Amino acid sequence: MVQPNPDKSAWWIKDSYSEQEVEQLVDWWRQHFWLQNHQTADIATPGGPHIMVRGEGCYLYDIDNKKYIDGMAGLFLKNIGHRWPEVAQAVNEQMTTLAYVNSGAYASIPAILLSKKLADLTPEPLQRTFFCGGGSEAVEIAIKMARQYQYISGNHMKTKVISRRGQYHGSTPTAMAVGNRGRPAHGIFDPLSPAAIQVDPPYCYRCPWGFKDRTNSDCCMLSVKSLENIIEGENPHTIAAFIATPIPSGNQIPPDEYWPQVRELCDKYDIVLIADEIICGFGRLGTWFGMERFGVDPDIMTVAKALTGGELPVGAVVASKEIADTFDDTEGDDAMFHHGVTYGGHPAVMTAALKNLEIMERERLVENSDRMGRYLYDRAMAVLQENHPLVGFVGGGLGLLLTIEIVKDRKTKEKFPGGLQGDFAKRFTQIVRESGLAIRAGDTIMLSPPLTITKEIIDDMIGILDDSFTQIEKEYPPGS
Ligand SMILES: Cc1ncc(COP(=O)(O)O)c(C=O)c1O
Repeated sequence: MVQPNPDKSAWWIKDSYSEQEVEQLVDWWRQHFWLQNHQTADIATPGGPHIMVRGEGCYLYDIDNKKYIDGMAGLFLKNIGHRWPEVAQAVNEQMTTLAYVNSGAYASIPAILLSKKLADLTPEPLQRTFFCGGGSEAVEIAIKMARQYQYISGNHMKTKVISRRGQYHGSTPTAMAVGNRGRPAHGIFDPLSPAAIQVDPPYCYRCPWGFKDRTNSDCCMLSVKSLENIIEGENPHTIAAFIATPIPSGNQIPPDEYWPQVRELCDKYDIVLIADEIICGFGRLGTWFGMERFGVDPDIMTVAKALTGGELPVGAVVASKEIADTFDDTEGDDAMFHHGVTYGGHPAVMTAALKNLEIMERERLVENSDRMGRYLYDRAMAVLQENHPLVGFVGGGLGLLLTIEIVKDRKTKEKFPGGLQGDFAKRFTQIVRESGLAIRAGDTIMLSPPLTITKEIIDDMIGILDDSFTQIEKEYPPGS
């Protein structure tokens, strides 16, 4: 049993833990706490998931006091890094003043202030925010909002949603329907939403149209042509929305003309453009929002993760004034948006988000993301791409989102089997973790450290990966 620390209200927080305490906790974890996106049994594998007890800046510490660089900022969200007592203090003050109001009837002050702040930070047309509890939920809500907007605008047939093949938008049914249908899980949960249609993404390294070794924009623009073909082929009067992330990961950066042309198509056919900014938002790409990189304003934006810097769970849908006004100007049963969630706009969460944004502005983290992103990309190219044949492709350079494609063979671009659950992925993750870098290593490695990162920590991160590739290449020789 974990011995309580009498000095703490959170009595389990201590400087160190005995072997028996660790064993007990791992045993309860194994039995009772569901590990996400893995088998819970994986906690027993060497180098498997650990119990983390502390965070400080860009570092995490496990229960044995081992230190790791948090190479993914949690899961693309601890953009401000770990441990900000000023956020905890503000949340505490808000919670001991007012901890909950029903957002269907009232608003709290921090909810109003945060919605105004988001209106100021996001592209100008976006003016009104619907809050919820996470990213998948935000995607569900955005799609419902787009569909109801079309309905109340008189476009009753506009019900279908187009998305890009192979992209991730979340784990709930509609988010899965517009997401990566190549995942085995889709077979289990089909039928998902029948109204979701997919188009190939602009993805040069694995060109959907089979062109080889191109990095120019010609073939990528086929993605826009395909989008128009699908819209025409399905009947434009049936398409409600197009949803996509500005860039799904560092390895899929579209040419400059891509997003402006998608915007034009959406305008031409009255299609709501939903930008899923759940990873790209809040400085990840070196701009406040990913779409700024491409000079395009979406009609709806989904955000989550880094809105609170991971301090508390959150999701939100920011809609354009035009969409909000259309709801305001409607009469009758459909005047209200048919969606409500108990925890939308929770005052403590809103407070955490406000403080998080304050810190981001004060510490100039968006600018740092831009600067450090370029440094990270240059180092990854010079050290990893240059020296390691298992590195197929390094994509990045737009802020602190870098993706390394791992291949068995550079020529064929073949991947190791099994994705994140494969033997290669498990072994490589083990090597990297034991070297003090907390990331997932499957057929890709994504690096998305806190935006507070320095050149020194980037050098450490690249050094660990350099050594880890050297080690894994002995065990899995390239080209074999
Ligand atoms: C682009 C994108 N959309 C949606 C989601 C789902 O967010 P959540 O995990 O908060 O439900 C994610 C999560 O990683 C994401 O990366």
